Amino acid sequence: MWLRHNNSWPLGLVLCVGIAAQAQVPPQPKAQKLAPFVTSPQPIVDKMLEMSRLKSGEMLFDLGCGDGRIVTAAVKNHGARAVGVELSPVLAKRAQQLVESQGLQDQVKIIQGDMMDVDVSGANVVALYLMTDANEQLRPKLERELKAGARVISLEFKIKGWKPAKVEKVEAHRHPYTIYLYELPQK
Ligand SMILES: C[S@@+](CC[C@H](N)C(=O)[O-])C[C@H]1O[C@@H](n2cnc3c(N)ncnc32)[C@H](O)[C@@H]1O
Repeated sequence: MWLRHNNSWPLGLVLCVGIAAQAQVPPQPKAQKLAPFVTSPQPIVDKMLEMSRLKSGEMLFDLGCGDGRIVTAAVKNHGARAVGVELSPVLAKRAQQLVESQGLQDQVKIIQGDMMDVDVSGANVVALYLMTDANEQLRPKLERELKAGARVISLEFKIKGWKPAKVEKVEAHRHPYTIYLYELPQK
């Protein structure tokens, strides 16, 4: 016998429908922290952007944008537009504050969330400072979404399976850094 929930729906039926609806929602994969927060020194940021040949009007994505230093430099020094994606709400807020303090909110969008969920098909340049495993996880997404001729600039960590178009070693604050430039082939 159905229990009466209100005048129209039996409570048992309401519960069954509710449970069935819940059961149909696929489990959402939990966002994975793919790298710790370490900033790129400013001379390295400048070198990464120069190597990427970022031009005025182009779009740069920084996947794991930290405090927003790469996206703001892309706009100020190259006349580009930029999107920064950052998992940490604290860092995403800090990046947004940097953008606003420099009056760049029309050219830069900060997204707080998982880079794996963000469509990067609009990018001409993708900046990465992650880790080898993270780059490996990201590679199929980049191959699927990026347009022909897009560039990927990765600080310190290679993208396994891709051949860099250029590798440069640069010193900053007495520390040697390696920057890898990749170019997506024409499809
Ligand atoms: C090494 S830091 C680089 C920060 C900045 N790009 C720079 O070069 O100064 C890596 C950043 O990636 C962020 N991160 C890690 N996993 C992420 C994910 N799944 N989605 C978005 N951001 C992530 C971290 O919180 C961290 O701020």
